[in-house]
Amino acid sequence: MSHYYIKSPEDYAAAYQKSTEDPEGFWAEIAEHFQWMKKWDSVLSWDFDGPDVRWFNDAQLNITENCLDRHLEERSDELALIWEPNEPSEDSIQFTYGQLHEEVCRYANVLKKNGVNKGDRVAIYLPMIPDLAIATLACARIGAVHSIVFAGFSAQALADRINDAQASAVLTSDGMYRGNKKLPVKAIVDEALEHCPSVHTVLVSRRTDEEVPMQAERDRFLADELKTVPSSCPAEPMDSEDMLFILYTSGSTGKPKGVVHSCGGYMVYAAFSFQNVFQYAAGDIYWCSADIGWITGHSYILYGPLLNAATTMMFEGVPTYPDAGRFWEICDKYQVNQFYTAPTAIRALMAQGDKHVEKAQLDSLKVIGSVGEPINEEAWQWYHDKVGKGRCPVVDTWWQTETGGIMISGLGPHSPMKASHAGLPLPGIQTILLDQEGREILENEVEGYLCVKFPWPSMLRTTYGDHERCKNTYFSNYPGHYFTGDGAKRDADGLYRIIGRVDDVINVSGHRFGTAEIENALNQDQRVAESAVVGYPHDIKGQGIYAYVILKDPIDAGSAMENSLVESVVRGIGKIARPDKIQFVPGLPKTRSGKIMRRILRKIAEGEASSLGDTSTLLDPGVVEIIKAGAL
Ligand code: WT7
Repeated sequence: MSHYYIKSPEDYAAAYQKSTEDPEGFWAEIAEHFQWMKKWDSVLSWDFDGPDVRWFNDAQLNITENCLDRHLEERSDELALIWEPNEPSEDSIQFTYGQLHEEVCRYANVLKKNGVNKGDRVAIYLPMIPDLAIATLACARIGAVHSIVFAGFSAQALADRINDAQASAVLTSDGMYRGNKKLPVKAIVDEALEHCPSVHTVLVSRRTDEEVPMQAERDRFLADELKTVPSSCPAEPMDSEDMLFILYTSGSTGKPKGVVHSCGGYMVYAAFSFQNVFQYAAGDIYWCSADIGWITGHSYILYGPLLNAATTMMFEGVPTYPDAGRFWEICDKYQVNQFYTAPTAIRALMAQGDKHVEKAQLDSLKVIGSVGEPINEEAWQWYHDKVGKGRCPVVDTWWQTETGGIMISGLGPHSPMKASHAGLPLPGIQTILLDQEGREILENEVEGYLCVKFPWPSMLRTTYGDHERCKNTYFSNYPGHYFTGDGAKRDADGLYRIIGRVDDVINVSGHRFGTAEIENALNQDQRVAESAVVGYPHDIKGQGIYAYVILKDPIDAGSAMENSLVESVVRGIGKIARPDKIQFVPGLPKTRSGKIMRRILRKIAEGEASSLGDTSTLLDPGVVEIIKAGAL
């Protein structure tokens, strides 16, 4: 039996056991399924103090050769990618493995022609059009490091990410469609690039066909460039530990950090986890509704499925356009077999009633997945009953940008399933719970800090340009362990239930923000003296953003000020981080040492001001009463 394909609870138990008793043997056997230009000298070397983790050391490979070339002999004419446009009436675009291979090679040649070399960082700021998938793979083909920035981020957020990575090229489009809106894209890039001297090349895909200003030295239309290059491009040999991509994500302090993933381990784990969680079978149509700008799209729209020669879909639009039945129509239209989405989408659609979902057949579905935030029981049940028709296993997949792949989840129908529980760790994943003192809790029916005590192939290797930050954020709280930032429970059967973040990170509609990041954006307004942001429970978004703001001059308080603060956040981060509530306050609850007591602010925002607990250590307990009285 190959541990690559887990097809029963017994397979899982055997694979898990093997993966802990002989991790190197286990992963070496999985890695044999891929095409390596040179095999590894050692499977694993690691030290969580550095941290310094190497998988398949000294091996060489190119992930695109494994995603594309490897399938050409047998599957050249099978569908690799199906693109569904925003408008249901517009034609879908489909690529066979042969066609996708050629598109990627051409784009790769355009990159080379424009002076992009192996190791260069390339920022990709593209909407969900096929060129996003092609551009990403084209970077990997030539060994350029892609840094995809979700196309909903603001110019300032884009500029920060370009500068941090010192990207030399930006791949973008003229504009984009999203629901009933047509939005600018190139204009945002132009604004960002006023502050980005490292960028020498901008390649522009056509989508909305509007006029966009082009800078003669810097900007090229992709279509013109494609005409000038050959259609084949050899895959660049990459060391297993060479950087494959950077993806920025928010933490509890400072600016977003560039999570770095490397080639070999990421490839092996993205492929292995995709296959087993979704139980993909040849001929299936798999659809993940995420955006490729997030890690979910990287691992489970692109790399995981393509590594398994799957047919993967990408959807340009939103769940509610033209109406709340769109997801279900798409599932029926393409006879989707595995569907993967976020709790926030499920809750938003559930709120529209059952008429849309009941109109659809949904009889092709075999596995339905959830990702990004805890899924509450009501949403889980609705998803299971109305979408899965009580027939499909729900895989609630817990993982993070930093983990590269799914860590805790059911494996299709082969795992115990319990509402709102992610379940058991995948083979090779040694999750543990720690108590306040950092001791491992061995019993079940407990709650603790979720950590991982052994390396897995797709774990982050560093944070770009700042290895100390990687160490401090993930490997210092509990020395010898990777700390996730999440709290979790473990039930009597060992199934994990994720509670949520225990740090100053909030999860809004499955998007991750640091409270400090939003505060920085608010503080850009010169009239703000100080601000404090917390999350609060929100019916659709999971968490909403609640901002307490002290103004230098209280006379400025009012709706005009509120609007301008919202604008500040939209400018600094993007519309996705727009605060839901802004309360002007005369002061903030602080300890005598000047630390803001967020616990109190969270309670007030949650509407639980009656149970504030001990406030005696506060510098000025009176301010709490004033904030409570004015709470929104
Ligand atoms: C954080 C990571 C990885 C995909 C998208 C989010 C939360 C993620 C679940 C889940 C409960 C979840 C955690 C985690 N999270 N999946 N199935 N159940 N919580 O990636 O932006 O890196 O955020 O999302 O809090 O730490 P991300």
